[in-house]
Parts: sequence; C-alpha cells; structure tokens
Amino acid sequence: MGKVILTGDRPTGKLHVGHYVGSVRPRVELQNSGEYEKIFIMIADAQALTDNADNPEKVRQNVVEVALDYMACGLDPAKSTLFIQSQVPQLCELSFYYMNLVTVSRLQRNPTVKAEIKMRNFETSIPVGFFTYPISQAADITAFKATTVPVGEDQLPMIEQTREIVHKFNSIYGETLVEPQELLSKNQACMRLPGIDGKAKMSKSLGNCIYLSEEADDIKKKVMSMFTDPNHLRVEDPGSLEGNTVFTYLDAFCKDGHFEEYLPEYANLDELKAHYQRGGLGDVKVKKFLNNVLQEALEPIRNRRKELQKDIPYVYEVLKKGSEKAEEVAAKTLDEVRSSMKINYFADTELIRQQAEKFK
Ligand code: TRP
Repeated sequence: MGKVILTGDRPTGKLHVGHYVGSVRPRVELQNSGEYEKIFIMIADAQALTDNADNPEKVRQNVVEVALDYMACGLDPAKSTLFIQSQVPQLCELSFYYMNLVTVSRLQRNPTVKAEIKMRNFETSIPVGFFTYPISQAADITAFKATTVPVGEDQLPMIEQTREIVHKFNSIYGETLVEPQELLSKNQACMRLPGIDGKAKMSKSLGNCIYLSEEADDIKKKVMSMFTDPNHLRVEDPGSLEGNTVFTYLDAFCKDGHFEEYLPEYANLDELKAHYQRGGLGDVKVKKFLNNVLQEALEPIRNRRKELQKDIPYVYEVLKKGSEKAEEVAAKTLDEVRSSMKINYFADTELIRQQAEKFK
C-alpha cells in the first residue's frame, strides 16, 4: 500500500510565515515529490470550536482565509484533497468509539493539552470537547489510514496518543487501523519560527506575526523593526546569533543563490554570520538582505492569493469537492471499523442466520 498523508490546521486566523516554513511549505514539497499516493489537508473547524464554542463566526470566517493561504502557497486541489473537518461526519462517529479506549488520566498526561489548558485558563472548567480533542485528532488521522503526519513538535503527543489508540483498537478488534508516523522538519528555525519581537512563538494575540497576505511595505516595516542582539549597539561591536530573530529567519528562508543576487560580497549564510559575530556588520544591512529574501518568497504567494480572492465561489467549490472525497474515504474506513467492532448488524448475513438458528 502507498503512503498517505493527513494533516491540517485550526482555522482561527490567517496563516503567517511561521505556518509557512513550519508546515505549509513542507507540505507543498511533499505534494510535489510524488512519493505519496494520497494527501489529505484538513481545515480543522470542529477542533477550532472546541475552544471557540462561543465564537463560531470567527471559525467560519477563517475557513476561507486558510483555504486561500493553502492554495496561494501551492497546495494544489488536483494533487491534494483539501477539505473541512465538520463536513465529514464519520470523524465524530470514530471519535465516539475511540473514547472507550482512552482513560481520563491518559488525556490529563498529554503535555500539549496540559499546556493549552493553562494558556486558556481552563484549569477550573475544561470543556469536555476540548479535553478530548486528542481523541478526535486520532480519528482524523486514522479515518484516512494516514501513514504520515507532517506536524510541528507541539503535535507529537497527539501522534503518540493516536498510535496508542490504533494499537489498542487493533489488539481488541483485530487488525483494522494503520499506525501513523510523524514527519518533523529537520530545520530547527523552521520548526519554531519566533515572532518579530523575538518572543518564543508567532501569535496573533502578541501582534508579532508576518502574515502570508501581508503587503510589501508592511513586510519591510516589520523586518526593519525585528528584534536582534540588544548588546550589538555599534556596527563594530561583535554580535550574537543566539536568539537573534533576523538570523533565525535567514536560517528558515535563505538559500545560497540569494547572496549572489542581493549581497554578493558574501558567498553564503555562514560567511555573513561569521562577520556579524566578529563585529563590523550592522543590523540594518542584514535586515535589508532579509527583507529582499522574504519579499522574493512572499510576493508570488500574495499575488496568487489576490487572484484566488477574485473567485471565492471556486474556493468553496474546491472545499466541497474535497470534503465529498474525504467523506468517501472515511466512510470506507468506518465500514471496516463497524465490522471489526461487530456493530455491522445489517451487513452481516451470517449474524442474521445464526440468530435465526438460535431461536428455532
Ligand atoms: N491540532 C492541529 C492544529 O493545532 C490541527 C489538527 C487537527 C491536525 N487534526 C489533525 C493536525 C490531525 C494533524 C493531524 O493546528
């Protein structure tokens, strides 16, 4: 059997460059590698509602924003199935059965859920749906028999929990589900791109993001205001790369070819870094270079997004078709699951015959 990808995002905002290098760009590369038989990219609106139950409009608005970002970055509906989670009812059904295979204490130990509960001040009153979202995520992955789940580090506990559920299901009900493997980025900078203020993570609430839909001038302003080395006061001072956001972004975006084009006095990023550390290289010069590199990456995305925005009904049509295809695949898995769990009464002629025999 061929390899299958499933992954996705919660539609709670437009995507930013952190999403781009951490998840969307690698997905496009995987899509175009031709190594995968099927690729499912899910807009996880139902999961977004687990902590936005009182704000459905926010989720609704962002479904199309995320779809636009996906397609603008090169996720191609002809090669990848783009779909909306809530439109595949089998995922709910599967979650319900998996709930029998997971204990409350196991969910409480999930480090990502733990951290998120803290972040949302849910400690004293956790919505049950939120608490159990790792189970629904296991349903997302297994409904498509995904072998490969490209994700960020924070999602590793979900994949681990999914494998446990698969293992338990298969050992109780017989081989039915596929154990997934995570696929992590090898580039540290891409895995955890900081906000422009140098804070751990890009986040809308911190106002430190560069969005994929951002205009050129705004990108430049944000790059020129980026956090660098606070002790690098004069050009001649030696500078530090540690926690230096501009260099982290260069690690994520820069290729050797960029030097030839925009900064020919250096051959590559290592040379630029060495000069910075030695002293004699000012922040402004490095920021201008980063701006060129970022503009080159983001301009085509922004332009494609604008083109797509002209035909929003088409974008919804893509999601509808994708959701129908996803439902077809999930329904097939559910048939197998029901049969393994012995709740396929009407399809089981042998059962009907046996019962008839019993009452003779
Ligand atoms: N939890 C993911 C996020 O926060 C979204 C998601 C839902 C997901 N189901 C998934 C990711 C299944 C990978 C696999 O964005």
